[in-house]
Amino acid sequence: MNEPDSSQTQFWTKRWEVGKMPWDLGGIPPALVTFLTRNQKRTTALIPGCGSGYEVQAFDAAGHDVTAIEFSAPAVARAHEVLGPLGEKVIHGNFFKHDFGKKRFGLIYERGFLCSLPPARWLDFAARMADLVLPGGRLVGLFLYGNEPEPPPFPLTDEVAAGLFGRYFKLLSTESVGHSVPVYDGKERWQEWERLED
Ligand SMILES: C[S@@+](CC[C@H](N)C(=O)[O-])C[C@H]1O[C@@H](n2cnc3c(N)ncnc32)[C@H](O)[C@@H]1O
Repeated sequence: MNEPDSSQTQFWTKRWEVGKMPWDLGGIPPALVTFLTRNQKRTTALIPGCGSGYEVQAFDAAGHDVTAIEFSAPAVARAHEVLGPLGEKVIHGNFFKHDFGKKRFGLIYERGFLCSLPPARWLDFAARMADLVLPGGRLVGLFLYGNEPEPPPFPLTDEVAAGLFGRYFKLLSTESVGHSVPVYDGKERWQEWERLED
C-alpha cells in the first residue's frame, strides 16, 4: 500500500477539515518573540506553510512587511479567522510554485514546514529558500531535530542540515527550545541561517 504523500495539498486538507492539527501551538512561539525583540531592523518577511498564521501578527506588529503562503484551503480560512484584516497577508498558493515576482525577503521564518515535507523535497526546499532570501538575509525559526518512528514530522540531523543548507547559508546560531506541542517537544531548535553571497 502506498504511504500518504505529505507533499500533496490533500494530505493536509484532510487534517485541517477534521481539526487534526497536533502541530498547532495556538499562538506565537516565545522564541520568535525574543528574536523580534532583539532584531529591530525592519525588512520583508515570508512565512511559508503558515497554517493558522499566528506569526503573521507578530511580524506585522514588529514593523516588518510580512507575507505568508499556505496551499490548503481550510488552513487559509483558519488563518483568516485568526488574523482578521491581517488575513490579506496570506497568499493561497504553493510555496514551490508561486510567482513572487522580483520580491525577495530579508527574513524567511520556518516552523513545521520543512519537517512536514518528505525528505525527497528537501533539496528543492533549500534551493527555493536560497533563491528567495536576500544575500545577507536570514532563514530563521524552529527546526526539528531527532528521531521520529512514524513521520511526518520528518526531523533533521546535524549532518543532513549541513548538507542541505551549507552551500547557500552559514549557521549563525542554534539553541534548543524548552516546551512545544507534544509532537515536536524536545526536538525543536531555534536556528538562524544567514544567506551567503552567490
Ligand atoms: C505541519 S503544518 C505547520 C503549520 C504552521 N507553520 C505551524 O507551525 O503551525 C504544515 C503546513 O504547511 C502547509 N504546506 C505544506 N506544503 C506546502 C506548500 N508546498 N506550499 C504551501 N503550504 C504548504 C500545509 O498545508 C500545512 O498547513
